[in-house]
Amino acid sequence: MSDPMRPPVSHRHPQWTSSRSDTPRSRSSLRTAVVWDVLQDALDRRVKATGRESLDVLDTGGGSGNFAVPLARLGHRVTVVDPSPNALFALERRAAEAGVADRVRGVQGDAHGLFDVVERGGYDAVLCHGVLEYVDDPAEGVRNAVAALRAEGVLSLLAAGLGGAVLARALAGHFTEARQALTDPDGRWGTGDPVPRRFTADQLTALVEGAGLRVGAVHGVRVFADLVPGVLVDTEPGALDALLKLEAAAAELAAFHSVATQLHVLGETRGAAEA
Ligand SMILES: C[S@@+](CC[C@H](N)C(=O)[O-])C[C@H]1O[C@@H](n2cnc3c(N)ncnc32)[C@H](O)[C@@H]1O
Repeated sequence: MSDPMRPPVSHRHPQWTSSRSDTPRSRSSLRTAVVWDVLQDALDRRVKATGRESLDVLDTGGGSGNFAVPLARLGHRVTVVDPSPNALFALERRAAEAGVADRVRGVQGDAHGLFDVVERGGYDAVLCHGVLEYVDDPAEGVRNAVAALRAEGVLSLLAAGLGGAVLARALAGHFTEARQALTDPDGRWGTGDPVPRRFTADQLTALVEGAGLRVGAVHGVRVFADLVPGVLVDTEPGALDALLKLEAAAAELAAFHSVATQLHVLGETRGAAEA
């Protein structure tokens, strides 16, 4: 029976949504709107298919809860696995401040030893956002994320895009670094590059399919947002909304995947894809 104190799962918080909504949005939504749209649609479909209002969500490398806390506010139960004690501490504080401490569990662990700390096959959805860049073995990281799913479940995978980094370095006038990123096997622009690894859309979809999932959708994230001077967005009336709508329109087009700062891949188990 549903808990009357909880918001319905399909409720969408204005800040997270959406190029489609008419609600005013903050600048930070430029970084996350596309991912939230895809993720919330996928979770809404799972809610319908399972007949349960609250899903069990695992956020691998979930850090301080950028996604976990809003998901818990939607009524889901979220387990965050992260190796960083500081991130887990921040997560705990944030969940308490948001009034969802009872629905967020932080566990110290990593993507490789995932089943030392969480149950195999126990989750309706697994998030792996901004983590594959840092793990020792991305293929194993994805396989473990998939093994944490129930027979019907969805994987939300977000990782740094190679082309976006090349474009950003080039537009900043760092042409040698741009070429270095283009030719480096890990997509790094130099020794000062803080990101250990970047991916193409083909590499990410191959990882997802290699782990046995069907690719439900691929989206480019932050195609323009990181390239546009902030002053244009902040001072021009309506510019933020227009840019959000442009990001949403470009996100689905394969032509823009090769220049996106991040790439999002939605993976579905066969059962979930058919549901
Ligand atoms: C860029 S942050 C992303 C945090 C969060 N997923 C988000 O989207 O806001 C990367 C996170 O991955 C975690 N991380 C690093 N190595 C990891 C590993 N081997 N397994 C799981 N998480 C890891 C870090 O502690 C950090 O919280």
